[in-house]
Amino acid sequence: MNIDFTYQNPTTIHFGKSALDNLSSELANYGDTIMLAYGKGAIKKNGLYDQVISILKENGKSIVELCGIMANPTYEKVMEGAKLVRENNVDLILAVGGGSVIDCAKAISASAYCEGDAWTRYWVNFEPVDNKIVSVASILTLAGTGSEMNGGSVITNNDVKLKMGRVFSSEMNPKFSILNPEYTFTLPKYQMVSGIFDMMSHLMEAYFSGEDDVTSDYLIEGLLRSVINSARIAVQNPNDYEARSNLMWSSTLAMNPIMGLSKTQDWEVHMIEHQLGAYTDCAHGMGLAAISLPYYRYIYKFGLDKFVRFAKQVWAVDETGKTKEEVALAGIDAMESFMKECSIVTNIKELGATEEILPLIANSTVLLGGYKVLTADEILEILKIACAAG
Ligand code: NZQ
Ligand code: ZN
Repeated sequence: MNIDFTYQNPTTIHFGKSALDNLSSELANYGDTIMLAYGKGAIKKNGLYDQVISILKENGKSIVELCGIMANPTYEKVMEGAKLVRENNVDLILAVGGGSVIDCAKAISASAYCEGDAWTRYWVNFEPVDNKIVSVASILTLAGTGSEMNGGSVITNNDVKLKMGRVFSSEMNPKFSILNPEYTFTLPKYQMVSGIFDMMSHLMEAYFSGEDDVTSDYLIEGLLRSVINSARIAVQNPNDYEARSNLMWSSTLAMNPIMGLSKTQDWEVHMIEHQLGAYTDCAHGMGLAAISLPYYRYIYKFGLDKFVRFAKQVWAVDETGKTKEEVALAGIDAMESFMKECSIVTNIKELGATEEILPLIANSTVLLGGYKVLTADEILEILKIACAAG
């Protein structure tokens, strides 16, 4: 392992069907005022909202609600939450929802007491947070982002058409997260498979880099096999607890970020998706999926041995009689078949992209890379293929 690292993860995970039973004892560690942050109504429909409210009341907490957090949360929404935090002197932000709600909660925590413009300081200049922060905790309802056990916070600023991801230090991680896989049963299939591809993408972004022998790569291959297996079961039977619990824990592990330790990593698919999202507001995992196929078919030749390993270890491609190139491409083809089997989107037009916005996306994408750092022109070519895909 060639790259040194320091790793710390302070999030307590309560996992399983009875995970919510731990909320009362956790709440005892915080002051009286709790901000309950949630999305556009899913938790009211499935009854989780009522359950959480009654536990908060039983524990004598006063509740400040921030509702309507949208998928791909905006900086404007962050500012609304930050104002509420200051006005009510909030002691804990309890985020109940998917990655968008949890990311927004972290952003509010960082921004509420920030001097100056938090967007510029924390999402553009990536300054360390030097102001008071408010503790964040989560109750997860969508498996995919890993936000429940990491410091990530991805925010969209519509004024400048930028969707920027920030990984804060681990003090911004949720202090505790409640993970009951049953909460994901009410997810529409579209959101479930979007989350599934998101976790797969997190694993691949870490995997496709470096040439040394790293434990992380073996862990990633195993996790990807588990995700693929459970995804196939969950697509057939969304209420299969075993599959949904495996998916939920896999997503937490995938973006922990333990899988990326001692790896340079790639992350270009995410950078392109973020700008696709800024222009189309698409579901994050679906955007990643549609970009991944042309992206990997373009860069595989720069990391050929790793793509051969991916094909063999993850997709069980038989290499007999094939060249390395053929094996590598067969692995990507196997991933495409899996995506189609799960109804994962493979075309960015379906996500709202038009030919006209492709140059805007390409020119505003942050340029990173694992085996190859692309130019804006190369990204544009990849986007054109993703827009024309069948
Ligand atoms: O708004 P509500 O009513 O809650 O509905 C949500 C939303 O419409 C719905 N939903 C969530 N749980 C549900 C449910 N519907 C029925 N039953 C349930 N149990 O699903 C929709 C999507 O929710 P969202 O939170 O947006 O999805 P996701 O968890 O995929 O989060 C996506 C956001 O996270 C960012 C993405 O960029 C995007 O902004 N990411 C965060 C990361 C991190 N913190 O580390 C890393 C990721 O790579 C990603 O970038
Ligand atoms: Zn992601």
